Amino acid sequence: MKILIVGAGGREHAIAWKLSQNEKVEKIFIAPGNACVEMLPNAESVNLGSIDEYISFAKDNNVELTVVGSEELLVQGIVDEFHKNGLKIFGPDKKAAILEGSKAYSKDFMKKYGIKTAVYEIFDNSEKAKEFLNNWKDFPVVIKASGLAAGKGVIIAQNLDEAIKAVEDIMVDEKFGNAGNQVVIEEFLDGVEVSILSFTDSKVIVPLLSAKDHKKIGEDETGLNTGGMGVISPNPFVTDEIFEKFKLDIMEPTLKGMQAEGMDFAGVIFFGLMITKKGVYLLEYNMRMGDPETQAVLPLLENDLLELIEKSFDKKLSEIKVNWKPLHSCCVVAAAGGYPESYKKGDEITGVLDFKETEDNKVFICGAKVENGKLLTNGGRVLNAVALGNTLEEAQKKAYELLKTINFEGMYFRKDIGGRF
Ligand code: AMP
Ligand code: GLY
Repeated sequence: MKILIVGAGGREHAIAWKLSQNEKVEKIFIAPGNACVEMLPNAESVNLGSIDEYISFAKDNNVELTVVGSEELLVQGIVDEFHKNGLKIFGPDKKAAILEGSKAYSKDFMKKYGIKTAVYEIFDNSEKAKEFLNNWKDFPVVIKASGLAAGKGVIIAQNLDEAIKAVEDIMVDEKFGNAGNQVVIEEFLDGVEVSILSFTDSKVIVPLLSAKDHKKIGEDETGLNTGGMGVISPNPFVTDEIFEKFKLDIMEPTLKGMQAEGMDFAGVIFFGLMITKKGVYLLEYNMRMGDPETQAVLPLLENDLLELIEKSFDKKLSEIKVNWKPLHSCCVVAAAGGYPESYKKGDEITGVLDFKETEDNKVFICGAKVENGKLLTNGGRVLNAVALGNTLEEAQKKAYELLKTINFEGMYFRKDIGGRF
């Protein structure tokens, strides 16, 4: 079987790594991929641009399955186009991808189906939004560009001035382009964040192990937002009681809503949650795997990933029992110095190309390329060190030990992924 994976980061490396464990898989193409193809047997990086190019490539190379890592092409309708061409692709069609592509749509969906979420209003006019803010009493307040903004479109405003500026940045100066044609203004929720990825065949939703992302560049969640600096799984804040609340207040009404709206696909739903004193709230849906959540969660998954995907296509996910290693996972992101602002590329990375993975230790590549046999940094987030342990502390310790064997100039990572120890 030949598989095409769409995306470029550590998430796509982890998906390819997990899929390659099924012996039916003879070849994995990753578009565009990264230097991870050097670490995977039978993997090849390919450069494709438009959706038409993806379709031609899949046809010409007898690709039997395409798995989409990142959101942009899903929202553009890559799944619909593949289906028109009789090609198998794992991910939501346009009709379902809008749950991630439009925060305005997804908030209205949550309200319509009684899914617990922050109180909000939607605006498509900056003057009306500012007028509304002038009467808002409770700061901080959260201002969100409705469309896709590469994870940067959410501003937590501490006071009225910051809130007004956020609306102007998003709606008047169009800092996020069309994504800011609408804004969502919502209540700030104070609590602990949780990521729960899940698979769906649109008949059932099967949640994966919970995870905890660490979004800020600085230790103790300080400084600028990033794409994610590390993840632990399972998330220690997700007790059985919290999980039941998630299922009852969020997951089950989501499935009902999807079915009522006629959403029908095989793919992923990623629930971004906040545990607060008032219960578990849904912040957002992502309609694809998380990065770096995937890199921490997949190494704990006992099941074959290809089988899970195939069962989703067959609408037989309910038949599968998902099994997890009774371990903890810690994924630490090593970034180039300066990230998430400007950073250098092209520094040599040592300790990765000759790295031998074990059951407990993996390295996934996010932003690196090979030139003249050398591995060079080629992105802000460069690589993930992932370790498994019997306890969270053991997993953390091993992940940081693993990082000691890897080096590049300016290498930066947070030393508190999963908490200080
Ligand atoms: P979103 O894209 O909606 O998940 O927002 C990105 C990030 O902004 C989340 O992961 C949270 O850290 C933060 N955030 C979003 N909405 C809220 C909210 N209502 N209260 C507090 N933080 C929020
Ligand atoms: N880690 C958050 C995301 O993938 O959007």
